[in-house]
Amino acid sequence: MKKPPILIIGKNGKTGMRVNQRLQALGYATRPVSRSTTPSFDWNNPETWRTAIEGTTTAYVTYQPDLAIPGAESTIKEFVRIAAATGLKHIVLLSGRGEEGAVRAEEILKASGISWNIVRASWFCQNFSESFMLEGILAGELVLPAGDTIEPFIDADDIADVVVSALNEPKHRNRLFEVTGPRALSFAQCIQEISDALGRPVKYTSVPVDGYINALREEGAPEDLQWLLRELFTVVFDGRNCNVMPGVEEALGRPATDFKTYVQKTIESGVWNTMMQRQSA
Ligand SMILES: NC(=O)c1ccc[n+]([C@@H]2O[C@H](COP(=O)([O-])OP(=O)(O)OC[C@H]3O[C@@H](n4cnc5c(N)ncnc54)[C@H](OP(=O)(O)O)[C@@H]3O)[C@@H](O)[C@H]2O)c1
Repeated sequence: MKKPPILIIGKNGKTGMRVNQRLQALGYATRPVSRSTTPSFDWNNPETWRTAIEGTTTAYVTYQPDLAIPGAESTIKEFVRIAAATGLKHIVLLSGRGEEGAVRAEEILKASGISWNIVRASWFCQNFSESFMLEGILAGELVLPAGDTIEPFIDADDIADVVVSALNEPKHRNRLFEVTGPRALSFAQCIQEISDALGRPVKYTSVPVDGYINALREEGAPEDLQWLLRELFTVVFDGRNCNVMPGVEEALGRPATDFKTYVQKTIESGVWNTMMQRQSA
């Protein structure tokens, strides 16, 4: 009998996209969904959930915008209830380190009766190349209210490998993998490594959090984004997450990818060259 497709919530996301590519390369049928797919899946519209889930038994779930936000707990509770009623048997949930809201969501999944894995991740390296920090690197200066906090940035390719293993390996059932990179680095160190490898100046400037959030407000950033960034830069980056954890090794039997390797492959992808091309055009 044909196996049901594996549901991926977060098709266009930094990890959802990679998980989808890996599963398809392995020959699995997948159903990657987000707001822009058919069927669609919107975390803000529970009416879209059942149709997206129906006919699947296994899912990789990435929440938007972040499990830390105040409404996430009730949304995850409702999602897990509908998922169980619609036939989902195994959920791999992407979670974030150092977030109380994320721990509450993890507990809801663990108590649901559905078989589970939690992949609790540090900050992604790919925030420097596929997210809001890219613009700063292209402009030659990354401005953030992150001080000199250190973070063991994880490569999203490692997260995707761990997720695929959790989806497919029965021996991993009902385990939490806390995944980080192998070295904790400050933002200044990351930018220095990127600048050295690129061979052009890029600098990191740390600013006070209030001024940073005020500037976002003046630019018209949504209230919930302002709240989330304040939470990330004041709570999550208060030093609680600086330790390196062995989740990648535990799931895959190999070490996590170093930031240097991430920098090298990102240079090869050309994504940090856009500004240079524009300037020379
Ligand atoms: N980034 C990190 O460093 C990090 C670290 C630890 C944990 N996490 C967790 O990882 C998850 C993903 O975060 P991310 O920032 O990296 O984003 P992401 O995975 O890159 O996801 C972005 C995608 O989410 C989809 N999306 C946006 N709003 C949605 C909604 N209401 N319903 C369904 N899909 C929606 C969008 O696709 P469409 O436009 O097609 O809907 C968008 O392309 C979050 O739960 C976050 O807490 C992130």
